[in-house]
Amino acid sequence: MPIQKIRSYLIAKSYDYAMRNTEKNCLHGWRQELLSQASGDLLEIGAGTGVNLPHYPAAVTRIVLSEPDAQMRKSLKRKTAQMQCDRCNITHWGAEAADAADASFDTIVSTLVLCSVPSLDNSLKEIYRLLRPNGILIFLEHIISDHPQILIWQRRIEPFWSLCAGDCRLTRDTAPAIQANGLHIEQITESPMSGAPAFVCRTIRGTARKRPHTDKESIAATDKLSSPVA
Ligand SMILES: C[S@@+](CC[C@H](N)C(=O)[O-])C[C@H]1O[C@@H](n2cnc3c(N)ncnc32)[C@H](O)[C@@H]1O
Repeated sequence: MPIQKIRSYLIAKSYDYAMRNTEKNCLHGWRQELLSQASGDLLEIGAGTGVNLPHYPAAVTRIVLSEPDAQMRKSLKRKTAQMQCDRCNITHWGAEAADAADASFDTIVSTLVLCSVPSLDNSLKEIYRLLRPNGILIFLEHIISDHPQILIWQRRIEPFWSLCAGDCRLTRDTAPAIQANGLHIEQITESPMSGAPAFVCRTIRGTARKRPHTDKESIAATDKLSSPVA
């Protein structure tokens, strides 16, 4: 069995157990509060073992669970079968490239995933493409520390941590990247993830909206497209 497969197997098998304290201390409550805002056609990126599933309200009509890791997908399949989730579909898409048309989703969910994707910007561009105008990204992510000593440690251990924890990066500054990729952050809360080591402790959670073009923006865009070549 290649190393990569063994690593995936171990991570998928141990994930829920490894997260049990932080789930109990804070994540469970945060998921419940955040995901109550989800509605319509929903895409969850990096759905993992399916921990968010019990939190989706009835207003969510369709749930596409994307998960590129085959071992995680096995857990996901078990969970959706146990829950008899008729509105769920599982796909293997990575966050950077989904096989779905532009503006396919009202809600996109990313919880503890944007730290693991190979390119934060490409994933956010794809999220923007997939959201309908007025659609929301619901996010919960751990981020770069604002404490200089902790940041030094984050940088030191990041390569080793990334190897053990499914390519997770410790020093991503996710909120500015969300805004830079065209989504408007409407709610954001920063809190320590209680029970987690100091180097993955600082988290943000909230929502970011793909605002429909205002008339002014649409006119400017049309003008640009139709302006004569000098
Ligand atoms: C820390 S786990 C989070 C799982 C779950 N979302 C949660 O809230 O507990 C990170 C997940 O992101 C997935 N992942 C890794 N690379 C990805 C990518 N490029 N696109 C989407 N998901 C990815 C991993 O397979 C894993 O399931």
